[in-house]
Amino acid sequence: MIKIARIDGDGIGKEVTEAGVAVLESLDLNFDFLEAEAGRECFDKNGTTIPEETIKIARNAKATLFGAITSTPGQKSPIITLRQELDTYANLRPIKSFKGIDCLFDDLDFLIVRENTEGLYSGNETIDETEEKAVAQRVITRKASERISRLAFEQAIKLNKESVTCVHKANVLKKTDGVFKESFFKVAKDYPMIRTNDYYVDATAMYLLTKPQEFDVIVTSNLFGDILSDASAGLVGGLGLAPSGNIGDKHGLFEPVHGSAPDIAGRNISNPIAMILSVSMMLEYLNEDYWAEKVRIACENVLEKGKVKTPDLGGTDKTMDIANEVINEINRLC
Ligand code: NAI
Ligand code: MG
Repeated sequence: MIKIARIDGDGIGKEVTEAGVAVLESLDLNFDFLEAEAGRECFDKNGTTIPEETIKIARNAKATLFGAITSTPGQKSPIITLRQELDTYANLRPIKSFKGIDCLFDDLDFLIVRENTEGLYSGNETIDETEEKAVAQRVITRKASERISRLAFEQAIKLNKESVTCVHKANVLKKTDGVFKESFFKVAKDYPMIRTNDYYVDATAMYLLTKPQEFDVIVTSNLFGDILSDASAGLVGGLGLAPSGNIGDKHGLFEPVHGSAPDIAGRNISNPIAMILSVSMMLEYLNEDYWAEKVRIACENVLEKGKVKTPDLGGTDKTMDIANEVINEINRLC
């Protein structure tokens, strides 16, 4: 039995997690899903967006599948708490064009590696008594910068990529991004076979629109990675197709990049492909490479055939229609 913590969350988080779990249950593997709560509904019920119990369940599982949550005003984001508690320090966000998808670029295949535990999302934010001044601390350590850089180089090798680009703003954030950039180039010395490059984050935003084919692996800090990965998802068909994995030395947490999408929640029209591709990343993390590949290829085939499509891709089908078609496709492949 493979123990998987399952945190559905809010809004479409519930719909896409149901779809992801249905795909996992269709495989010739044995999973034990441990349900845990987090998010807005959890806050309304329990007074906390992430109970201790949820963190405990995630810690004891082999991996965690996370839907999406609606943020609660005044409360720290539970997904950030979870990433920090599990020390899943790397957020891997593959950006890939799919055949059959009408998008800005049909030839992209790169990976954004986002530092996940510090930067501007370290959670150290204060507001003074007058509420006139609020301060967020941007924490960048050499330890975290070196380990995320190393992971980016290791991913480049694994994916057969030629280069790693470090994205920062060291011309303005001289101290914090100074540490980030120095750490990157220090680690780069151990990987002479991989080409290195560094760009400022604002220039990167433009290059993502003008020459995104140039990127192989991008490594960057928490906030920059969050923004650039959503923008990059837009290059290849939108948030409904963007998966992610949060990886640490002991834990893996897998989630679609998107949020709870209150604008479409409750109608069962959310696209589950981002979640199902996250499921594929989770299977790879669990060393179930055979099934990881089958699930990924099944998603690609379903998108290419275009017989079933949710409204974000111009269709009229429902969340579970896509999941069932992916399951049928997996069966055809096996
Ligand atoms: P969002 O990602 O929920 O939605 C942005 C847009 O993309 C919406 O128009 C939505 O309908 C569309 N979209 C997203 N996923 C889709 C899918 N699978 N299929 C079809 N369309 C999809 O971001 P938004 O609206 O900024 O945030 C909504 C809530 O989610 C907020 O409370 C936010 O704080 C939270 N959030 C949570 C995240 C998480 O749980 N990891 C990540 C991002 C936002
Ligand atoms: Mg985001």
